[in-house]
Formats: sequence, C-alpha cells, structure tokens
Amino acid sequence: MALFDCTCDATSGHARALTYTTAHGDFHTPMFMPVGTSATVKGVTTPQLRELGAQVVLANTYHLAMRPGADLVAEAGGIHRFMNYDGPMLTDSGGFQVFSLADTVKLSDDGVTFKSIYDGSNIHWTPEENMRIQELIGADIAMQLDQCAPYPATREFVARAVDYSSAWARRCLAAHTRPDQTLFGIVQGGMHLDLRLESVRRLREIEGESLAAGGRRFGGFGIGGYSVGEDHEVMFETLGEVARACPEDRPRYLMGVGNPTTLVRAVREGVDMFDCVLPTRTARMGTAFSSTGRMNMRNAKYARDFTPLDPTCDCPTCTNYTRAYLRHLVKQNEMLGAILLSVHNLYFLLDLMRRAREAVLADAYEEFYARWMESDAAADY
Ligand code: GUN
Ligand code: ZN
Repeated sequence: MALFDCTCDATSGHARALTYTTAHGDFHTPMFMPVGTSATVKGVTTPQLRELGAQVVLANTYHLAMRPGADLVAEAGGIHRFMNYDGPMLTDSGGFQVFSLADTVKLSDDGVTFKSIYDGSNIHWTPEENMRIQELIGADIAMQLDQCAPYPATREFVARAVDYSSAWARRCLAAHTRPDQTLFGIVQGGMHLDLRLESVRRLREIEGESLAAGGRRFGGFGIGGYSVGEDHEVMFETLGEVARACPEDRPRYLMGVGNPTTLVRAVREGVDMFDCVLPTRTARMGTAFSSTGRMNMRNAKYARDFTPLDPTCDCPTCTNYTRAYLRHLVKQNEMLGAILLSVHNLYFLLDLMRRAREAVLADAYEEFYARWMESDAAADY
C-alpha cells in the first residue's frame, strides 16, 4: 500500500472499518488516539502505549512550539525519535489551544496572534508558519490551523469561524509540502447544520482547486468545534449528517471527544477517529472507567475490596492490582495511582474501539451498539 492510502475493510450501517497507511505503519479504525500533549501521554511510557494497543498517538503543536520548540524536536530527529514512539503520530495545529488557553487572541485573515502561556511573549501564526512548525515536528498527520467557536456563540461568530477556518485551510494545503506527512482539513460550524455543510463544501472545493492545480489533497477530515460545552444530544442532532457529508474514501476524525458512549454512538454515525485527554485526566483525578460505569477510587467502599479494578478487563492494572491498593495509592496522592489508572482508562477506550472494529468486520455493529447502550456502563457516561 502506498503512503496515505485508505482502504475500507468493511462497513456495518454507517460504521466503517478503515486501514490507513503512514510512514510509521498502518492504523485501523474505529480508533481512539491517546493524547500526548507535550510529547508525553502523561504517566505512560511509549512501550506501554504499544502494549495497550495504541496506534496513532497525538501531540500538540501549541505546547511543543512553545517548549521545547519545534527546532529542537527537529534536531532530535523529529517527534517520533524525540519521544521514542515508532508508530503513527498526529499533531493538532494548536488552533484549539490558542483559543482555550491564551488570553489575548487576535484574529485576521492572515492568521492568529496570541500571548504564550509560558512566558507571555507575543506569537503570530500565519497558516504557512503553522505548517512550517508542524513539518518540523514531523508527525505523520498534521491538522490545518482552524478556529473552534465556543458554545454558546452567536451564529455570526460561528459563521466567521467557518470563514477563517476555510481561508486557512486553503493556505495550509497550499503551503504543506512534506512528502511523508499528510494534512487533514477541519470542519467547523458549531451546532448549525447549514454552516457545517458549508464548511465541508468549502473544504471539498479547496481540495478540488488544489488538485486541479497539481497540488495536494487532504488526507482526512477533522470534525472540530464539538464537545465545547453543549449537551451530547445537541451534537448528535448534526454529527451524522456532517460526518457523512465528508468524503467517503478518507477518515473522519471527531476531535476532542473521549466519552465511551459518545464514541460508540459516533462510530454508528460514520466517524472513524477520536482523541481526548479524558482517560488520562480523569485517571489523575482518581476516576476509573469500567464495564459498570465510572468508579471514584477515593470511595471508602473500596478500602477493603481486594478484587481487580474491573474483573472484565485484561489490562496490566486489572490483572495485577486490587481496588483496595489503587484506592490507597490515590488517597495518598502516590504517582503510581495516577499511572495505573491512566493505563487502565486508556486500555478501556482502545479496547472498546478494537471491539467496535471487530463488530464492523462482522457486520454486527447494531448488535454491538445495542449491547453497549443496554449496559450499566452506558448509563453512567
Ligand atoms: N480539539 C478539539 N476540538 C478541536 C477543534 O475544533 N479544532 C482543533 N484544531 N482541535 C480540536
Ligand atoms: Zn483494566
């Protein structure tokens, strides 16, 4: 298979099982991608990530560009060598972090200006500069610079975010040259179906013009601007139609979503890829995902519970440690507690998507979906 080829192995309803080729190996969807913001999935080593079944690992352009700097990552031999992960990697553009983390953000057609959260310095990113930085970092997949509108926002604000994101998509695609890296476009448009469909239409048009001029195509399509504070139900009013408006022959990536039930539902709507800090962040707060729902490991009811965290789970945490021990670690703020829960929570989502893929391959996604929705776990997420 050639670089960035995407084959559809099976479908089941709208759910898909894709295989996608990168310079660091193939990945298979549906897939959850662990987030390694600053070139580390907090508390988990890269060999452990492989053992857990991670495929693509995420890193963040915003954080890496500030510290240690994209030049330094390039000097190390790129992000894979720097963090010793030899599987596929993806960098988010930082568009989202600029708007959620920086305090003084100024937008123009020419890009975005913001103050660094690290040292207060003023930074200006044109789409071209953002592409230069992501090419230096060297992940297999780069994301276009985009603007994610907050929720709630006025329709005018969201429409302007689509305008900026489309203009920047065009410039990112034109500026992107690294042959071993592909670029995903990002759909915006908030909760407005017409704005979302217009955003998809423009990405397709931009790509068509690029191809006609001998330029590149998008390697896939990010669906951004969801999970920004709206109810899950609000997202599902538009998500399916938006996902299926994206080209069928490439991956659809719902950005920043990691709630297990939302993943199971979004796959049913035709989404292929997900990322979220939720499994590792909730682990650091002492909460475990489980087949019966969320477990707060600080709870006194686990003090003398010498059974595995989740008896149905095959992860290294569940096969080696008891609830009582994990509660003790979490209560004492021992770092091993956060690490063991991170390992388990990541495995939970990686395994959930592995089973989702098996269901698609067996053309039995509806049964998989129904079983999940009837489970105790679904009721809690
Ligand atoms: N992560 C979660 N949502 C978004 C989004 O809308 N844009 C980008 N670039 N990253 C995200
Ligand atoms: Zn486990």
